[in-house]
Amino acid sequence: MKIAMIGTGYVGLVTGTCFAETGNDVICVDVNEKKISELTAGHIPIYEPNLSDMVKNNYARGNLAFTTDIKEALNKANICFIAVGTPMGEDGSADLQYVLAAAHEIGRYMSHDMYVVDKSTVPVGTGERVRAAIAEELKKRGSTLKFDIISNPEFLKEGNACADFMTPDRVIIGSENPASIDVMKELYEPFIRSREVFIIMDVKSAELAKYAANAMLATKISFINELANIAERVGADINKVRHGIGSDRRIGYSFINPGCGYGGSCFPKDVQALIKTSSDYGYEARLLQAVEAVNARQKKILGKKIVNVFGDDLTGKVFAVWGLAFKPGTDDMREAPSISLIRELTSRGAKIKAYDPKAVGTARGFYLKDIDAITYTENKYAALEQADALILVTEWKEFQSPDFMEIQKRLRGKYIFDGRNQYKVKTLEKFGLSYIQMGVRVE
Ligand code: NAD
Ligand code: UDX
Repeated sequence: MKIAMIGTGYVGLVTGTCFAETGNDVICVDVNEKKISELTAGHIPIYEPNLSDMVKNNYARGNLAFTTDIKEALNKANICFIAVGTPMGEDGSADLQYVLAAAHEIGRYMSHDMYVVDKSTVPVGTGERVRAAIAEELKKRGSTLKFDIISNPEFLKEGNACADFMTPDRVIIGSENPASIDVMKELYEPFIRSREVFIIMDVKSAELAKYAANAMLATKISFINELANIAERVGADINKVRHGIGSDRRIGYSFINPGCGYGGSCFPKDVQALIKTSSDYGYEARLLQAVEAVNARQKKILGKKIVNVFGDDLTGKVFAVWGLAFKPGTDDMREAPSISLIRELTSRGAKIKAYDPKAVGTARGFYLKDIDAITYTENKYAALEQADALILVTEWKEFQSPDFMEIQKRLRGKYIFDGRNQYKVKTLEKFGLSYIQMGVRVE
């Protein structure tokens, strides 16, 4: 098939590349000229496992192309995907300016009938607005071209995006048009293990299903974090509690890892957007408000634990931070707990030595650009030199079994604050290190 992918970010680039991988002809479009010229020159703007090789191979094979010219892309395509950002607006709603701008451009430049697939995460009713925007442009041109809107939300996770896309748990197709459903099934056929993976529904339900999935996962995380805070106070161990409840198959182990709060480009904005949609319809989404509030509080928890040990004034203190990305496997720092933590500590006078396997460029170039009291190290052990404590914020694999002797030797203090519960108290005790984790009271 011939596909135009409008928006070449995390989702657009991964989706476009994976469709090219199965032999489709894909043109990825973006308004960001720098991004497109870098991609054309073989430089992949994000870190995502396996993506770089897949992009280069498909580009070399001629299945994948990049352009800033939407007209050219639409000319060559019979399916066009909208995969632009839907960031949080000032009032918490999803900002639809990029989606609607893309829709107007489609209407303005499409030169033959087209399937228009919305892959961006959008509030219920957006499909209708996209339809209206395209129709308005076609009317202005006096055009009788036909198009159909399909909702096809994306469920990939960063850090595992290509694998998630290539073997999806489900492919949701929001459409009541048999021809559109057939086209989508044909496109996704190479990725599915059985026909049951296809889940067909109306556009509105598909739009809401995406928010429902993210809200459910965020709820699990805030729930376990709430329990962690209770466990700590009553003298229980959240790690054992987690084990106890996860063994119930109705609950399961996934997304009940206690931590220093969820970040990323999806959960924070999508929970907010669903709260806003609900309130637009006169409904107060109290559970979701609590999920959000618990997370906002949880993001401050490491800072609080550090102040409890070192006091309010952190002047002269040095902290080693392991992990800046919002999760392992990515260089993405959108809404990362590391950002608010580092801002909090440096505002109290501390100095930071930070190490992350992939996200240092993102931190230095954007999210922590204005912070002078931070230095970045080439490896995890160098960050510990003369530090009063180690703070683990992101659970990269290389932090799972570090050389504790090396940690003990390099740290000048004896504390490890662990926002992701990676270690065992007993192991650290052997090295004379005090271990402060989530959901376990320090005796
Ligand atoms: P992103 O910010 O990484 O990329 C969006 C891209 O769209 C940018 O490169 C931007 O320049 C481009 N763009 C904006 N307007 C454009 C236009 N008119 N024409 C062409 N390009 C345009 O965003 P993302 O993380 O890929 O997210 C895209 C959508 O997918 C969002 O709705 C998001 O909620 C959803 N989503 C994201 C993930 C994820 O893990 N990142 C997962 C599932 C769903
Ligand atoms: C999420 C959804 O998982 C994915 O399906 C959707 O398409 C996009 O949003 P992503 O944001 O890439 O994916 O990462 P995810 O693995 O879900 O983690 C999000 C945040 O939750 C991270 O900050 C992570 O550290 C945190 N988390 C996750 C926890 O704190 N505890 C957990 O048990 C799981």
